[in-house]
Amino acid sequence: MKKSLGTLAGIVLIALSGSALADEQLDIGKKIYERAFGRGCGTCHDIASNPQLAANIKAGTLDRAKFEQILREGKGGMPKAMDEIMKQKVVEKAGYTEELAIDALYKYVSSK
Ligand code: HEC
Repeated sequence: MKKSLGTLAGIVLIALSGSALADEQLDIGKKIYERAFGRGCGTCHDIASNPQLAANIKAGTLDRAKFEQILREGKGGMPKAMDEIMKQKVVEKAGYTEELAIDALYKYVSSK
């Protein structure tokens, strides 16, 4: 009995820390979105004439791989963004790798 209660408490703890991590990831993604290039990605992407990231993800035309490629290489009026992303304080503080930072940003943009 005691043992199964301990197991249950363990499962609850794991579930709680899992959701706290997910929240942290979203929060970091949001801060990158709002702060990269000084005024954030939204300076360009919240304007109707530029690609609408959340809508394109929902429509299935912008998957995680394409998202990453554009951030790394840039495209037309879209500047290369990896250096800008990695130098954000919030990314440094979390100790995120490039992969984790892109994950967080992609997750946040998907949730917009
Ligand atoms: C100076 C304006 C500007 C800023 C700042 C900017 N973008 Fe862009 N972005 C563009 C433009 C313009 C395009 C379209 C490029 C093209 O297709 O020729 C684009 C395209 C993209 C695409 C491809 C979209 C698609 O569906 O094909 C992604 C992904 C993207 N940007 C992500 C970001 C993210 C994330 C940030 C912030 C880190 C950001 N951009 C900051 C202007 C900007």
